[in-house]
Amino acid sequence: MGIFEGKVAVITGATSGIGAATAKRFAELGANVALIGRNGLRGQQLEDELARLGALVHFYPCDVSNPEQVEKTAKKIGEDFSHVDVLFNNAGVMLPSMEVERMPVEDWKATFDTNITGMFYVTRCLKPYLLESKGCIINNGSIAGLQHYAAGRSYAYSASKAAVIQFSHQMAKNYGEEGIRVNCICPGIIDTPILGDRDRAIYAQRIPLGYVASPEAVAKVVTFLASDDAAYLTGVVLPVDGGASL
Ligand SMILES: NC(=O)c1ccc[n+]([C@@H]2O[C@H](COP(=O)([O-])OP(=O)(O)OC[C@H]3O[C@@H](n4cnc5c(N)ncnc54)[C@H](OP(=O)(O)O)[C@@H]3O)[C@@H](O)[C@H]2O)c1
Repeated sequence: MGIFEGKVAVITGATSGIGAATAKRFAELGANVALIGRNGLRGQQLEDELARLGALVHFYPCDVSNPEQVEKTAKKIGEDFSHVDVLFNNAGVMLPSMEVERMPVEDWKATFDTNITGMFYVTRCLKPYLLESKGCIINNGSIAGLQHYAAGRSYAYSASKAAVIQFSHQMAKNYGEEGIRVNCICPGIIDTPILGDRDRAIYAQRIPLGYVASPEAVAKVVTFLASDDAAYLTGVVLPVDGGASL
């Protein structure tokens, strides 16, 4: 019997990278899983894969930056699963870095719309369920939101991730007495499609532990934060970066 038996985890950005790895780990540990993302093909494939592990799993095609889609999706999740215990706010984009005077306004907006406003939409719609279950939220920030070094000229990305950290702090402080824990992870350089064809070996040289981690390494931290072993943790901003932010 897994540690999340009978629990329901909702994961945004579940169709790839860290989200997909975390969805899989929750399912392996006994949770039922609601997968949110835009790519229907990848979402359906993951739904099929996790269902084979014995989990109740549904994929919901949804753009987190669209408030109407998020509202409909949250309602459907409530109907399909009846309760929600864990929300992993993970969906995010990292658009090309460039100087501010060259950056398209659309890129700035798209970054904020997904990375922080989308997180607000999803949290707003699922909070009533988390209140009822005394559940927990884990937000995916980045070390780029902690310090300038990691992300060079990623002005919009870094600023959006700094906003994720402050959003997490506010929620942790205010939701504690309502029984909801809120923590924020700050991954460093993780080997997922968001990195594109960037040279992992060059990144590895800048990481004290000497390697770029897999998304599964982050998934383990997320499931720890969602577990009873982390029952006294809230408001934590946790780098998962092999020391890259030092
Ligand atoms: N990899 C790293 O080095 C690293 C480091 C620090 C933080 N992070 C953060 O980790 C999170 C996951 O990224 P990843 O590395 O796993 O990259 P990834 O493989 O590109 O995954 C990004 C996920 O976000 C989803 N997504 C993007 N925009 C969305 C939207 N508008 N609505 C719904 N889903 C959306 C994508 O799904 P669809 O395309 O199906 O919508 C995809 O599942 C992001 O927040 C990222 O900023 C990553």
